[in-house]
Amino acid sequence: MRTQQVILAASIAAMLFAAAPADAAPVISKDATLPVGSELNAELLNQPTEMFSMEMAGGKRSYLFNLGDMLFSSSAIFGGKAREAGMSCNSCHRQGANNARLFVPGHSSKPGTFDTSGPFFNPKADNGIFDPVTTPSLRGAKYLAPYGHDGRIASLREFVRNVIVNEFAGAEPSGQVLDGLVAYINEISFLPNEKITSDGKLTAKAPDAARRGEALFNKPFRRDASMSCATCHVGNAAFVDRKVHDIGSGGFFKTKTLLNAKFNAPYFHDGRYDTFGEVVAHFDRHFDLGLTPAERDDLAAYLDALGDADQPFTQNTVQAEIDELAQFASVLDVAIPAGIPKSSFWPWTRSAPSGARSPRNSPTRGTPRPRAAWPSG
Ligand code: HEC
Ligand code: HEC
Repeated sequence: MRTQQVILAASIAAMLFAAAPADAAPVISKDATLPVGSELNAELLNQPTEMFSMEMAGGKRSYLFNLGDMLFSSSAIFGGKAREAGMSCNSCHRQGANNARLFVPGHSSKPGTFDTSGPFFNPKADNGIFDPVTTPSLRGAKYLAPYGHDGRIASLREFVRNVIVNEFAGAEPSGQVLDGLVAYINEISFLPNEKITSDGKLTAKAPDAARRGEALFNKPFRRDASMSCATCHVGNAAFVDRKVHDIGSGGFFKTKTLLNAKFNAPYFHDGRYDTFGEVVAHFDRHFDLGLTPAERDDLAAYLDALGDADQPFTQNTVQAEIDELAQFASVLDVAIPAGIPKSSFWPWTRSAPSGARSPRNSPTRGTPRPRAAWPSG
């Protein structure tokens, strides 16, 4: 690391840990330890695991990726209340996954939901209806176009621009800001799951009930033999068909991925269901499938195995935080001379000590290397 970067990382870290006792200031070194009484709380120590496709394939983080990673945790790209509150993409899409605990009174119907078309963050975005929706996980986002629960926007770049400008009243982002965020989101991978193969079939590690459920998942519906669960949730395509359907949940919504979905509750666009059992019961009613209670349980067991992950959570460490700060510092080194003002990043560091958000860890560090990138490509 160049000296300049060390100094930048040190000053960011100093701000981050400003609330810790004076003698507990972290040192930028490989043997930094967790200060006693540190403000890194349990929630921060146990984070949803985040993995990146290029690292899983043995590649390195690019400048653009690091820029996007940093912006993802910065409130400076937003305007109005979101910025004042120190919110960032990461407040809702925690570690690129979802945030099942997010609850804003008056704007959420239940934890994990938020009304992005409400007046709170941008009065101009208000559609006049209280219609909170779940925060989708961004794992595998590059396979999940079109974007938004209703699939209204085909391009990820356009969706992100819309989030910044229309939902959170931010200034028009520069091309580089958008490129960075898109590069970052496109790398957020599904987590490996030893219970499935790379084309979405169960392996011998899955329990018997799940295997019986897998057969039901592929079995033609009794009222319409041209259709099964797998018609819309396509096994070798991240379990989506990239289309919207009316499945009796209140309109047309896009088919959801079932990969790592165990961690995406509450389910459906409005988060109406908390368990796979409830979701299966919905489909049973809607398509008049005539499932027995045992078959419903088997389908739920299948969803549970299919939606699992080998290591869903990763313990954060101060070293991981510091390593990421060093990466961020190297971004600032390039970004600031290149004309992206320092103020594009700064509220992120200021808001961190209050516990709102600190830079995220890099969980691929110190965690076992996954077996293979998934899905391939
Ligand atoms: C207040 C919580 C919140 C914040 C902050 C937030 N999002 Fe979201 N995000 C949501 C919700 C809710 C949806 C679903 C919106 C919809 O269907 O219209 C969503 C949807 C998305 C999607 C579409 C995913 C898909 O599969 O369709 C992307 C991509 C995304 N957000 C990226 C971002 C980025 C990038 C930022 C920061 C610039 C951000 N979000 C900030 C809550 C949030
Ligand atoms: C006609 C296409 C279609 C068929 C058939 C279908 N699904 Fe879905 N599935 C969807 C759509 C669309 C959604 C999202 C609904 C919403 O957001 O309101 C969804 C959502 C889900 C979810 C919730 C995922 C989440 O994260 O919210 C699960 C689980 C699921 N489906 C499983 C199944 C099972 C099991 C079957 C067979 C019994 C099935 N689906 C049949 C289209 C389909």
